[in-house]
Amino acid sequence: MIREIEYIEGPNPYAKSIEYYENNKVIGFLNYSLIYDRIEIDNIEVLEEYRNKKIGTKLMTYLIYNAIDKHVINITLEVRKSNEIARRLYKNFGFREVALRKLYYGDEDGILMEKQVM
Ligand SMILES: CC(C)(COP(=O)(O)OP(=O)(O)OC[C@H]1O[C@@H](n2cnc3c(N)ncnc32)[C@H](O)[C@@H]1OP(=O)(O)O)[C@@H](O)C(=O)NCCC(=O)NCCS
Repeated sequence: MIREIEYIEGPNPYAKSIEYYENNKVIGFLNYSLIYDRIEIDNIEVLEEYRNKKIGTKLMTYLIYNAIDKHVINITLEVRKSNEIARRLYKNFGFREVALRKLYYGDEDGILMEKQVM
């Protein structure tokens, strides 16, 4: 089951989450900000023992349908250069690597990825 959460009264009124449940337990989530006509993915994570079972793919699919529905123009994110699994997931959804951010994570470079939705 997938559930959407909004944090309208929190410190970031643009913040939203998509949670993936199995047996009433959250086993994966995707945190993002919907800022007018663009989305920034802040984090996506699946509990270790549930990885590689397409849950990340389901969360991203849900986000992208949402983005189309809300007429979002583009989705961006930052990913560690070494995170090949996450980079693969994003590439599967048509994200392109648009910039290298030197030492973005302090100890490692970040890659800025973007998907054009509209
Ligand atoms: C990145 C993450 C969310 C992916 O979630 P997931 O549910 O495991 O991903 P999926 O099962 O949907 O797989 C996505 C792609 O990665 C591949 N993949 C997943 N786990 C893999 C593994 N252990 N080894 C090789 N490839 C793997 C899948 O094969 C799939 O690609 P394909 O469809 O071309 O075959 C998950 O690995 C995670 O929580 N990682 C730690 C947190 C993190 O790094 N988040 C990203 C921050 S930018």
